[in-house]
Amino acid sequence: MIFLPIWDGSHGCASFIVGDDADGRGIVVDPLAVIGADTYILNAAEMGLKIVDVIETHVHADHHSIARELAEKTGLLVSMGHRAPLATAFNPLHEGDRIDLGGVHVTVLETPGHTPDSISLVVTDTTRSPDPWLVLSGDSLFVGDVGRPDLVDPTPELTERAALDQFHSIHDKILSLPDTTELYPAHYGASACGGLFLSPKPISTVGYERRWNRFAQITDPEEFVSQLLSLLKPPPVDAAAIRSQNLGNLKTH
Ligand SMILES: [Fe+2]
Repeated sequence: MIFLPIWDGSHGCASFIVGDDADGRGIVVDPLAVIGADTYILNAAEMGLKIVDVIETHVHADHHSIARELAEKTGLLVSMGHRAPLATAFNPLHEGDRIDLGGVHVTVLETPGHTPDSISLVVTDTTRSPDPWLVLSGDSLFVGDVGRPDLVDPTPELTERAALDQFHSIHDKILSLPDTTELYPAHYGASACGGLFLSPKPISTVGYERRWNRFAQITDPEEFVSQLLSLLKPPPVDAAAIRSQNLGNLKTH
């Protein structure tokens, strides 16, 4: 398996190339405008991979995405959770969808909460093990924290509903993966999509977070929602503008 994280430390954003060198196909997840589409294309080519999918884990509100440009340059449509509010064509992903890259399997989990369209991607290298090797958890479970639920609609009722969705996404899906599953969230450190406890460390494991993440420790949904809402940082001032720019950029012409 080929797995290359590409991080932007100044904004705390993560993007990834996943592929199978024997098979020669790969995917790019959450590509960043600050990195540039050509960097992903060159990196993939250098590792012998043809890019066959460009996936966004959700509509981002804290950084500019380069997914559409990368998809167009590689002759693809952007793939996103089917609830993504795009009026134009994209490849909709659903729970259980699987992208096979030779022996590397990428399975979609719908993990709403941070946004309704949020997805996570479970990556298994079947040539080594039937167990998942890692999960790209988007903005569901972070290292030390969880994705904030108030950036799509900050009204109290909808934020509360999103926080409850986040509880179920994390407890019923991400934390049901084996302890040994490595956790690669979409953000760390300075990102505006996290809260007070977001770690500057970009990687963890499901087992470590199950044991030490304060939100993983809360098994009562009402308590989870109450804690998450009471610990929210003030909303970032530019989130709505970035989100709407990303929505516009994701539309096809
Ligand atoms: Fe986000």
